Amino acid sequence: MNIAVIGAGNIGKTLGEKWVAAGHTLRFGVRNPADPKFDTLRQRFGVAGVLSVAEAIDAAEIVVLAVPGAAVAEIAAEHGARLAGKIVIDTTNNGRAATLHNVDILSAAAPDAIQARAFSTLGWENFATPVLGGTQIDLFYCGDPRARATTDRLIADIGLRPIYIGGLDAAATVDGVARLWFALALGQKMGRRLAFKLLSE
Ligand SMILES: NC(=O)c1ccc[n+]([C@@H]2O[C@H](COP(=O)([O-])OP(=O)(O)OC[C@H]3O[C@@H](n4cnc5c(N)ncnc54)[C@H](OP(=O)(O)O)[C@@H]3O)[C@@H](O)[C@H]2O)c1
Repeated sequence: MNIAVIGAGNIGKTLGEKWVAAGHTLRFGVRNPADPKFDTLRQRFGVAGVLSVAEAIDAAEIVVLAVPGAAVAEIAAEHGARLAGKIVIDTTNNGRAATLHNVDILSAAAPDAIQARAFSTLGWENFATPVLGGTQIDLFYCGDPRARATTDRLIADIGLRPIYIGGLDAAATVDGVARLWFALALGQKMGRRLAFKLLSE
């Protein structure tokens, strides 16, 4: 699959590495692609792997938002039209807003994007190493049912087990999982290598 990852920080780079290893084509969309700070990324992903946000989105079928949560509104306002018809996976958490997710902002600015909300509930270290104590980590996510098969595959390609919990109306529930992670990993100081497993018959 052709994937654009917008933002090349902890989440963007961790997911990007795994998806390239799984055989996907990956391009990062960044604010200033010419910045020498992206030289290492260029060496790893190729010159065409570090583009402007617009160029990366235009080349992709799937767009993964891995920027600060507060930046999503600006990106959606500027690039909403070019997201039409693409699967947009929002990994971001906006700690300064009423909701961690950006479903409403994205729906308003990019009504024809096919949204999923995933990779928002655990620290990035658990995506880099998706097994804890020999057990595969589960990733709870939600999204437009049209995005489900692709998102399941991309989650599995990270090495996690995807657990779909419903459509975009389940975004607050997904955010509850993130808040549980924050409460335990950070609040209770249990550490960032902490994740969740669904048990069922
Ligand atoms: N870190 C985690 O463990 C974790 C886990 C789950 C979810 N999340 C969420 O994932 C998102 C990314 O987290 P992170 O830890 O990867 O952050 P990060 O390391 O700070 O990286 C953020 C990236 O976004 C870029 N960026 C900032 N504003 C932008 C804009 N307006 N347009 C394009 N790119 C922009 C930054 O580029 P510049 O270098 O140009 O500033 C940077 O590459 C956050 O919303 C966070 O809440 C994080």
